[in-house]
Amino acid sequence: MAIAQLRGGGGGGRSYLMILWQRWGKREWAIAVAGFAIVILAFSFIISSDTDSSSVDHFSGAAPTDFIPLVLLSNAAQRGAYCLDGSVPAYHFQKGFGSGSRRWVLHLEGGGWCNTIASCSFRKTTALGSSKYMDHQVQFSGILSCDPSSNPDFYNWNKVKIRYCDGASFTGHPKNFYNWNKVKIRYCDGASFTGHPKSEQNNDTKLFFRGQLIWEAMMDELLSIGLSNAQEALLSGCSAGGLATLIHCDDFREFLPKDARVKCLSDGGFFLNEKDIAGNATIQSFYHDVVNLQGAAGSLKKDCVAKMEPSKCFFPQNIVKSISTPVFLVNPTYDFWQIRNILVPSSADPFGHWHKCELSIHNCSPEQIQVLQGFRNSFLKALSEFQQMKDVGMFINSCYIHCQTWISETWHGPNSPKINNKTIAESVGDWFFERKVSKHIDCPYPCNPTCYHMDFTGQRFH
Ligand SMILES: *[C@@H]1O[C@H](CO)[C@@H](O)[C@H](O)[C@H]1NC(C)=O
Ligand SMILES: *[C@@H]1O[C@H](CO)[C@@H](O)[C@H](O)[C@H]1NC(C)=O
Ligand SMILES: *[C@@H]1O[C@H](CO)[C@@H](O)[C@H](O)[C@H]1NC(C)=O
Repeated sequence: MAIAQLRGGGGGGRSYLMILWQRWGKREWAIAVAGFAIVILAFSFIISSDTDSSSVDHFSGAAPTDFIPLVLLSNAAQRGAYCLDGSVPAYHFQKGFGSGSRRWVLHLEGGGWCNTIASCSFRKTTALGSSKYMDHQVQFSGILSCDPSSNPDFYNWNKVKIRYCDGASFTGHPKNFYNWNKVKIRYCDGASFTGHPKSEQNNDTKLFFRGQLIWEAMMDELLSIGLSNAQEALLSGCSAGGLATLIHCDDFREFLPKDARVKCLSDGGFFLNEKDIAGNATIQSFYHDVVNLQGAAGSLKKDCVAKMEPSKCFFPQNIVKSISTPVFLVNPTYDFWQIRNILVPSSADPFGHWHKCELSIHNCSPEQIQVLQGFRNSFLKALSEFQQMKDVGMFINSCYIHCQTWISETWHGPNSPKINNKTIAESVGDWFFERKVSKHIDCPYPCNPTCYHMDFTGQRFH
């Protein structure tokens, strides 16, 4: 069995992670924090083998050329598109080659959401709210890998990783943000930015809720560097980016040539509207706060907003039906982010009975496993109406994990999670290229021996 150990990514990543985990008391922190953990994990896996300690591979199997530089959006000021702190949004771009030169895969970064002035103000001091703190280069792996053995269908495509810095899944628009003059809090990071519209004062304390404008400016820029000429394109994203993928899927289709094949892949983005174990609608009220704080309603699916309270349209189960572009959902039914933040947030477990189980699914008691099976049932029930849709593809596995497409080990390799003997990469390829129907649903835990289960006890992974 393989084990991956978390290493501190670039200077104290591990202790940063631990400090963050200790702040679980407040719901808004917990949700933001889980996002950071994902980001940190992105840079910090290695894998080793229990049985053969000599075979130590780098988790993503990446060559040095897979480190791709950060590019700041050139049209940000003109479009009013800013990160939470007023800095310029950014992306990473690797040019396609050979048969991939007119094919594009985009990946929207995830990282939770912020739902209050305090949590958004904290976020703007991190890479999830400011390009000032973003790494100057990131590793492209999994669906972004340029190695055909780890990424058979997309390795030579143009690849873009779009950084996430608005805190609301690329929604939010200043016009909708009627109360933004009230956003003045005593907060100092000593940073001031150039390029703000003149009307905006007090840059240090201001928050910019511009996710929709970031999305549009990003599309503008990518269209100008070749996306407008694409024959095939796949919009993907993980976690909050997987949700953004669903929210913006049809607009993406609109930006591209009519005769292009365009599809959307949401990874770990199917956040379920489920009550927590104490019976509170924790995630629903959290999304309500995010959507209201950021004025996100205008970015959400119109036909959904017409039918229900706008923040409910942040739940994929309420919008997948109205997406006309083909969608693929990759999601584990024991999504650890959802277990830790939707089903068992710390507010619902004041005595910490779930603590060990949340650290590792192998530590859960039989009663807790029953509760998790109940969550899985709700998950499958929510999915069942999309299962019949012709263009929908699915890879719904039974692992305790969250995002699986940008990590090479979980995307495609000899030890990757499989359902019906297919890796995630193969299943997505079958659906994208219409090689065969690709709707895979796993048997319940612990039946699938190919799973990677996250293990947070000492930040281990097996
Ligand atoms: C905010 O940014 C604008 C534009 O760069 C600048 O003119 C202004 O002085 C800044 N305000 C503060 C309070 O730093
Ligand atoms: C959760 O629900 C209980 C009642 O079921 C209530 O007493 C409690 O205040 C709620 N907690 C939160 C954090 O909303
Ligand atoms: C599983 O897939 C692999 C690779 O496609 C293939 O070589 C192998 O025969 C398959 N195994 C089964 C049991 O179908």
